[in-house]
Amino acid sequence: MNKNIPLILTVLTVLSGISCRNRRDAGDRKQTDPGAFVERLLGQMTLEEKIGQMTQICFSTVTADGSKKLVMDEDKLREAILVHHTGSFLSASGRAADWVDFITLAQRVAVEESRLGIPLLIGIDHVHGANYVDEGTILPHNLTLSCSFDTALVGTAARITVSETLGLGLVWNFAPVLDLGRNPAWPRFYETFGEDPLCCGEMGLAYIRNYRAPGGTPYGAVTCGKHFIGYSDPKTGRDRTPAWIPEQALQEYFIPPFRIAIEGGMRTMMLNSGELNGEPVVTSGYVSDHLLRGQLDFDGVVLTDIKDISKVVEMHAGAPDELEATKLALEAGVDMSMACNAYDFQDYVKTLVENGEVREKRIDRSVRRILRLKYDLGLFDHPFPSGLMMDGIGSAEHWQSAEEMASGSIVLLKNEGILPFPKGSGKILLGGFAADSKTILNGAWTYQWMGVPDSLQPAAMMTLLDAMEEYYGKEAITFLTDGDPADPVFREEFAQKARDCDLIVLTAGEMPYSEFKGDIDDLSLDDRQLELAGMAAESGKPVVLILLEGRPRVITPAEPMAGAILFAGIPGCGGGRALTRIISGEVNPSGRLSFTYPASTNHLVPYYHKASEQYNPLFPFGAGLSYTTYSYSDPEITDTLVSDPSASMKLGVTVTNTGTVAGKEVVLVYLRDRSGKITRPVKKLIAFRKVDLAPGESKRLEFRFIPGDIFSYPDRIGVPVLEEGWFDLITGTEILAVRYVAR
Ligand code: BGC
Repeated sequence: MNKNIPLILTVLTVLSGISCRNRRDAGDRKQTDPGAFVERLLGQMTLEEKIGQMTQICFSTVTADGSKKLVMDEDKLREAILVHHTGSFLSASGRAADWVDFITLAQRVAVEESRLGIPLLIGIDHVHGANYVDEGTILPHNLTLSCSFDTALVGTAARITVSETLGLGLVWNFAPVLDLGRNPAWPRFYETFGEDPLCCGEMGLAYIRNYRAPGGTPYGAVTCGKHFIGYSDPKTGRDRTPAWIPEQALQEYFIPPFRIAIEGGMRTMMLNSGELNGEPVVTSGYVSDHLLRGQLDFDGVVLTDIKDISKVVEMHAGAPDELEATKLALEAGVDMSMACNAYDFQDYVKTLVENGEVREKRIDRSVRRILRLKYDLGLFDHPFPSGLMMDGIGSAEHWQSAEEMASGSIVLLKNEGILPFPKGSGKILLGGFAADSKTILNGAWTYQWMGVPDSLQPAAMMTLLDAMEEYYGKEAITFLTDGDPADPVFREEFAQKARDCDLIVLTAGEMPYSEFKGDIDDLSLDDRQLELAGMAAESGKPVVLILLEGRPRVITPAEPMAGAILFAGIPGCGGGRALTRIISGEVNPSGRLSFTYPASTNHLVPYYHKASEQYNPLFPFGAGLSYTTYSYSDPEITDTLVSDPSASMKLGVTVTNTGTVAGKEVVLVYLRDRSGKITRPVKKLIAFRKVDLAPGESKRLEFRFIPGDIFSYPDRIGVPVLEEGWFDLITGTEILAVRYVAR
């Protein structure tokens, strides 16, 4: 740090006292309308203050030991706010009460000591519950949650998250991820809502709509869609490596989730950190200006991802130096740089304005958006953490919901009459790498970026072993510590324990990872785990394989060894109990795969493939069994010949629970466009709904569509193409044909 900083800070503190009249002016917002308030404030700001508003700094830059712990170094904080005019911070982790103190201190410096008293905008990655609050309730990660096909559960996830986050003064959540999960090697696959654009969009929308300040909270809450665009399908599968996605595919598949979210009110957007079609996204005018602001009419705040302007130079070699990269990013349309640990961005922007390479008007455009966001969030009136809703953080009610989310999301992929295995059916041998782990159930982005060991997980949380012992009784469960199948002693122990059991439950999958830390060379499940499944099968006892993983690791050699397979993904704090209740039959599984489970590492094709492509997955998109059976009947459509593309049409179908236990059926409605000049996918999801059915019960479901919407597809510049022809609406076993003839 500059040796003169303490002196500068003292002078600034004195000066800031003198300028309190300005602050009062800035804060006196009730007398004007928002636009006028923002303009007046903008008019008082120096160039440096404006650039400060465009800068987001990691809290680790101002903490005592440079870590994410909630212990502030006040000198560094004052330097960040009073010298560099920083307007936004992100990311730290700790106890709820410490968060309140920490943010109160930061806001106090901003509103009471800075010249204009502009409050800070504080961001956090609460991507599966309040995962950076020690007492926070850890919910399933998005991939797992999306397998519920239940937007109500996503809504509950958002409500729990905001209620455990907002009172701490964390108003900006970097969620939801709207990237398409269609490259299973990509290490952030589990952060997506799966491979289908509609599912990703509707789940994202449910999240945004429910991520609202609950009544009585003084300031608002805002979500951030990420990562615009094309982040999730890098050619190598590795994080932040180049994606080559034809414009046609961008328009048809990658853009729709973002469009749904923007139309639903998404106000901030984080850019993809990688390269798309040869350009670093952060400096791509095509992405920010043309697609996001132009085509999608997005008028909110555009934020870079972490240190991305530096990455243009250091990682992508997309500019000779950071000054040039900053210029390109500003030209492209970036409003705020997640600069993190350095203030260079500010120097570069200042130089560019002073050199006349960037006009101050351009800076004003971004600052206006940022100030308006702060205004709309109520931060000028209520900059400090409210401390409200603290009692709910990690409450029993929230834990119960977390378990229900996991129960509604876990997918039964295979069942040769092995499950359910009710209490009293016999003894269970429980083993595999995750059988007694909390870390694996909660995954990464849990208290720390990479997750934490069991010793730091909530004491009250149950592992699968805890939950099974609680439910079946200790005497019914034999635990097998994970071991090496090549070790004869372990093999003997396994064989001997298996002899005494009636069922083997084996956990398999992956240890937690975040971002590039999860890069892999081979999608196959590791050999050791595959061999363990082989050993289990050799025992002759029925085997249940539970998959706890962030992406579909190829398990094809192990699949025949298991009589039942459950995909649990990363189910969160209720995962152990949810799995136990499904295994026992107390809960009837109702999840369906929101992605394709590949059979091999090289054949990676989504369900919406082209007619000329093969689709031979191990388990297809939408796969998922139940302990009951359902039938579909009486399909009906209002129009079989459509000539007015704007007149709403209705599809009706009756779904019946034909079995003996209650269940929840996921009804998926697909459209098949029989031909198209730009060849059409074999089918594409156009609606989904989850319906509760008692044994023997039937329900009539109705879906409304605008033919022009579902029958058309975008061309490569996003213009809808509507062609005459035949379309099939497919749901369950039913197919209805509709013809469109233009008037
Ligand atoms: C991730 C973002 C995240 C940001 C802030 C980045 O590394 O890509 O998803 O929001 O960090 O923590």
